[in-house]
Amino acid sequence: MSPLSLLFLLLATTTASAPLRPGFYSETCPEAESIVRQVMKKAMAREPRSIASVMRFQFHDCFVNGCDASLLLDDTPTMLGEKLALSNINSLRSFEVIDEVKEALEKVCPGTVSCADIIIMAARDAVALSGGPNWEVRLGRKDSFTASQEDSNNIMPSPRANASYLIDLFSQFNLSVKDLVALSGSHSIGQGRCFSIMFRLYNQSGSGKPDPALEPKYRERLDMLCPLGGDENVTGDLDATPQTFDNQYFKDLVAGRGFLNSDETLFTFSQTRDYVRLFSKNQGKFFKAFVEGMLKMGDLQSGRPGEVRINCRVPNSRPVDVLLEY
Ligand code: HEM
Ligand SMILES: *[C@@H]1O[C@H](CO)[C@@H](O)[C@H](O)[C@H]1NC(C)=O
Ligand SMILES: *[C@@H]1O[C@H](CO)[C@@H](O)[C@H](O)[C@H]1NC(C)=O
Ligand SMILES: *[C@@H]1O[C@H](CO)[C@@H](O)[C@H](O)[C@H]1NC(C)=O
Ligand SMILES: *[C@@H]1O[C@H](CO)[C@@H](O)[C@H](O)[C@H]1NC(C)=O
Repeated sequence: MSPLSLLFLLLATTTASAPLRPGFYSETCPEAESIVRQVMKKAMAREPRSIASVMRFQFHDCFVNGCDASLLLDDTPTMLGEKLALSNINSLRSFEVIDEVKEALEKVCPGTVSCADIIIMAARDAVALSGGPNWEVRLGRKDSFTASQEDSNNIMPSPRANASYLIDLFSQFNLSVKDLVALSGSHSIGQGRCFSIMFRLYNQSGSGKPDPALEPKYRERLDMLCPLGGDENVTGDLDATPQTFDNQYFKDLVAGRGFLNSDETLFTFSQTRDYVRLFSKNQGKFFKAFVEGMLKMGDLQSGRPGEVRINCRVPNSRPVDVLLEY
């Protein structure tokens, strides 16, 4: 290959991305959204929890250097990816659902729909298929060439986080207190591990005692599910209706039945309590705020160059790699 055509290839894959917009694939892959929805439906029928697990990808992808599917890259000898980062290891799951979506899309419109956009569509579909709101997503993202375990470790919040820490974290992404509370309502579906709540049940803030905000009957149930010295991979429901996207999560918080410390803290701290109360009483307001939050979070971009990956787990072979081989 001549140096000139190499340069051309480089430029072709590194031009800055255009603004995100609805209908981005209406000419190039008109069936894209219906294909994603179909595969998500199949995944839900196979294992209801898997769509909650996929929905979580949007948060863990978009907070770490923008929504660029960096999360989906497998580790390589020269790159520690995000899958084994603190918040993700032994926790993120159902990557195979994204693989299935990608395979189906590659058959119909090869090399067209980015993995980053698949995450955004699939997260929306998970909510809609669970009884939550449906909304139009903005598309046109590119997939990253790399991932950063270190950045994920530094950014993603612990289940022990309190509301003031979370308010601060979300504000760094221009997400408001209302966005934080509404987006936490994603825990209306899915499960968490005992590992994530052991400190809360037995040693909150090093006190040697449980979190006093836990309603006693609920705490008894969690103690049975997660005994000291037990298997910390056992999972419990994040709210009382873990397969239905509704405002039950907020009702549970008001009743002291939030699963994670980061959930219950939204009710115990005054800065977030009013939104928890509001959403517990008015599901319509929750849904509206949730959609706004998902759209804002989905707009986070790194501004770095990208590509449309063929396989969501590995970057396409790049001109830069070709260049290095010479
Ligand atoms: C506000 C800060 C947040 C914290 C500290 C947090 C933390 C966690 C933790 C610890 C788990 C359980 C993981 C495990 O035990 O293996 C979990 C599950 C989950 N999170 Fe979050 N999360 C937050 C916000 C979000 C947001 C913004 C979303 C999506 C919009 C989200 C979606 C989910 C879902 C759907 C699950 C269940 C996944 C499954 O069943 O596999 N979370 N989260
Ligand atoms: C909230 O968490 C932060 C960081 O862990 C900590 O520094 C702060 O003291 C906590 N705030 C309250 C009021 O507990
Ligand atoms: C937040 O908004 C400010 C001002 O509009 C902007 O400069 C900044 O880049 C935004 N930050 C993020 C993470 O989007
Ligand atoms: C509780 O946490 C504190 C501080 O992290 C620690 O010193 C103590 O050993 C813990 N207690 C138990 C019973 O694990
Ligand atoms: C959970 O299971 C994984 C294997 O899937 C294992 O590596 C890990 O040590 C277990 N974690 C806990 C907290 O028991």
